[in-house]
Amino acid sequence: MTTSDLDTTTHTDPASSTDTATDPVPLDPAAVEAFAQQVAGLITGGAATAMMVVGDRLGLYAELAQSGAVTSEQLASRTGCTERHLREWLAQQAATGILEHDPAHRTFRLPPERAAVLAGDESPASLIGAAPIVTGMHRGLDRLVDAYRTGAGIPWGEQDETVFEAIERFFGTAYRSFLLPQWLPALDGVAEKLTRGADVLDVGCGRAAPLLLMAQAFPASRFHGIDLHAGSVAVARERIADAGLTDRVEVEVSSCLDYPQRGYDLITFYDVLHDLGDPTAAAAYAREALASDGTVMVVEERAGDDLAETLRTVPMAALNYAASAFLCTPNSLSQPGAVALGSQAGARAVSQVLADAGFTRVRRAVDSPFHTVLEARL
Ligand SMILES: C[S@@+](CC[C@H](N)C(=O)[O-])C[C@H]1O[C@@H](n2cnc3c(N)ncnc32)[C@H](O)[C@@H]1O
Repeated sequence: MTTSDLDTTTHTDPASSTDTATDPVPLDPAAVEAFAQQVAGLITGGAATAMMVVGDRLGLYAELAQSGAVTSEQLASRTGCTERHLREWLAQQAATGILEHDPAHRTFRLPPERAAVLAGDESPASLIGAAPIVTGMHRGLDRLVDAYRTGAGIPWGEQDETVFEAIERFFGTAYRSFLLPQWLPALDGVAEKLTRGADVLDVGCGRAAPLLLMAQAFPASRFHGIDLHAGSVAVARERIADAGLTDRVEVEVSSCLDYPQRGYDLITFYDVLHDLGDPTAAAAYAREALASDGTVMVVEERAGDDLAETLRTVPMAALNYAASAFLCTPNSLSQPGAVALGSQAGARAVSQVLADAGFTRVRRAVDSPFHTVLEARL
């Protein structure tokens, strides 16, 4: 797009809105063009996300990671997909800069550094699992637009199924990378207790990704999970059975405000506290459910303590706020309390929730580029 495509002549400057302010002011064509380019990039990102989901679902990135440089015909024979569809997808991937294109040999290549991000979930650098979250958000657009008009909330469990799959997958990447090596060891005495044998409750356990990691790492401990969403709990039960852990891991459908308070040694909230209608009540309920020397661990996305700091310091703020606006805030608004902290509430606000809930010792145990882990004790 160029400035010649843009009407830059008849606009009113809202900042000078007085009786005489209906006079058109000329726009700065360079600023319009620069912003149009920025928006074109954002829209392209949306379209590129859909194309990434295609590449992921069909195993195209995984195949390209193995194959080295291939033509569309070679990729077709290796994947069983039709060549004409693939040729267009490959061209689009070259246009985004994801694939390298060699015109002399008509080949396309996924360099290993890019494969680490797109070709699977095992690398800590993997981001491909986040792409279907956007698919799920698009499927829920109409309802969200209505909710903005009516003020209604949207319970987590009423989002598109793709969201649950993608959250399990994408968050799973982070949990595998950080939970056992960094987060649990940063809590005072917790890893030692789990090694000896302890009772753990995970609030808002979803499909049990972090619960299973903990259970596999600490065979002397017992693990319980609760979640309001019956669909997630059903999948969690399958995962627990598949892992052969039904003797030590159980999950129930329950709200964060009415599970049995069994004197747990550790209660965890993985990317959950900000989603709750009344996070302070949920934290206070967890406090009552702890053993006297127990610990609450709260894992939240890293954010600044106010919007300006978040915008300045959190590279993924635009994606995080989109997920918060689409998933977290509407869920909180669907529940009693409707506090709607948002996923970017920041460590200070979440620490205040824990202090308001009656915890006397609250500290930031981990502050990494993507997560903050808070430890709360009685
Ligand atoms: C972002 S997901 C995180 C799931 C899981 N902790 C993980 O990290 O994979 C938030 C979870 O909180 C659950 N949830 C929301 N409100 C809840 C409530 N009031 N009580 C219990 N669970 C709730 C949702 O059903 C959802 O599974």
